[in-house]
Amino acid sequence: MPIKYPDPFSYSTDGLSDQVNPYLAALREANTDGGLPLVFGQALVPYPGKWRELAAAYHQRREPYAKLVLEIGCHQGRTLLEMAAAHPDILFIGMDITFKRVVTTAQRAKAKGLNNVFVVLANAVALGQLFAAGEVDGCLIFFPDPWIKKARQAKNRLVDETFARQLSEVLVTDGFCWLKTDQLGYFENSAEQLDGVGLVRLDTPTPPLLGTNFTSTFEQRFHQKGLETYAGQWLRMAGAQGHLI
Ligand SMILES: C[S@@+](CC[C@H](N)C(=O)[O-])C[C@H]1O[C@@H](n2cnc3c(N)ncnc32)[C@H](O)[C@@H]1O
Repeated sequence: MPIKYPDPFSYSTDGLSDQVNPYLAALREANTDGGLPLVFGQALVPYPGKWRELAAAYHQRREPYAKLVLEIGCHQGRTLLEMAAAHPDILFIGMDITFKRVVTTAQRAKAKGLNNVFVVLANAVALGQLFAAGEVDGCLIFFPDPWIKKARQAKNRLVDETFARQLSEVLVTDGFCWLKTDQLGYFENSAEQLDGVGLVRLDTPTPPLLGTNFTSTFEQRFHQKGLETYAGQWLRMAGAQGHLI
């Protein structure tokens, strides 16, 4: 069940019957009894600017996280959990808009005993409200929904000028954005938006902090079908435009 609400803090599951979605009960419990490393709606209010601190407290972790990496559209957590296992010093936050995907990601993180994963049910169009300026060291957007069935759907694509400005704002200086998609047009348009807010395109195949070409579920599906995919990384240099807004 996807949430469409652009305001992440006002989203509530009150009024939805548990019968509507099998993941609803687990989602609600996560906010009330902390059974899963998962947060949404009103409970998100304290998080912007304090993600590392609050996630460390949740996981009862003594060592602070060295960095914070966000994956937008984390699906069921495959890439997120692989990265988290490889980099135990980094906090990995997975964001998605469906109950099933966030609950499954959080359940899998818990089952693996990962104390560096947190999951958020929210629409990434509100990125700038969810993180403080300079709070994010890296952001992955792998295969964002392409909206290609009808020409007029292109307006629904996540990566537009408003999003690129928010992304630049939440990234720390030297923070990266890593984008992958199977749609050349979407890739080129996104590249234009990211370049446009002053993020600098890198020539390397892997991002600086992670150093590995982590792949995703959709990426593997496309490659199995022999389809081409497009990838790029951008770095936020000092003085990028996002911080001037
Ligand atoms: C095509 S799937 C790709 C999943 C995964 N990243 C991969 O590459 O295998 C797109 C994912 O983004 C999520 N998504 C779509 N729009 C979103 C938004 N505005 N904010 C956060 N997640 C979104 C979808 O629910 C879905 O899990």
